[in-house]
Amino acid sequence: MRTPIVAGNWKMNKTAADAVALVKALLDNGIDQIAGVEAVVCPTFTALDAVSRLCEGTNLAVGAQNLYFEPNGAYTGEIAPEMVAEFCKYVIIGHSERRGYFGETDETVNKKLKAAFGAGLLPILCVGETYEENQAGKTADVVTSQVKADLAGLTADQVASMVIAYEPIWAIGTGLAATGEQAQQVIHDYVRVPVTEMFGEAAAQAMRIQYGGSVKPSNAQEFFGQPDIDGALVGGASLKPDFTEIVKAAAEAK
Ligand code: 13P
Repeated sequence: MRTPIVAGNWKMNKTAADAVALVKALLDNGIDQIAGVEAVVCPTFTALDAVSRLCEGTNLAVGAQNLYFEPNGAYTGEIAPEMVAEFCKYVIIGHSERRGYFGETDETVNKKLKAAFGAGLLPILCVGETYEENQAGKTADVVTSQVKADLAGLTADQVASMVIAYEPIWAIGTGLAATGEQAQQVIHDYVRVPVTEMFGEAAAQAMRIQYGGSVKPSNAQEFFGQPDIDGALVGGASLKPDFTEIVKAAAEAK
């Protein structure tokens, strides 16, 4: 059985001081005491040091929201994999906001995945279609081609250990979540099946696949009840202490 993983992607929100206050509130809420589920917070780079200190010795894991694929050098403003790995277990790679606003492509995402593994990080790879692609019936093509291009050249062991988040772009920050059945279908047919074809049954069954897009305490159960949905990548609703309720819902569903 796969252990569900619920991660909070804080995006460009919260100063280091605000991040510390939220993590303290989450720990007070018992977020790291919930058995059978892995909880992760992904603050901005400037809060990683403080947040990772607070999470030391707890079951709350820390992730970053991005990294650069080169190990070091003249790349002003970028953060190397090894720098992220000082503070984090996880790293989000290829979020649609990075693809949409910052020019990330399947090629750079693939390099970043390899670089993350090289530094001992576990990636949370994001894939998902736009509203227009969804309406044009292109969800299968878009999601499967992202999965294939992004994972190219990885090993079955690496794939087994990582996480993919299916995040339909039309559901991000819009309040318009996919239904549990829609997310299950995409995750099974267009993510887990192609991963099986590429890396074999064992890797595909071990890999955890999250749903992301307007997940909140009131709708989380709908997703976690689905057989192929192994948790969630949560944006807006991860910025408040009741993010813990979503983590509880994942534990209760499995
Ligand atoms: P929301 O939960 O705010 O829709 O964001 C989803 C997301 O992009 C998480 O990475």
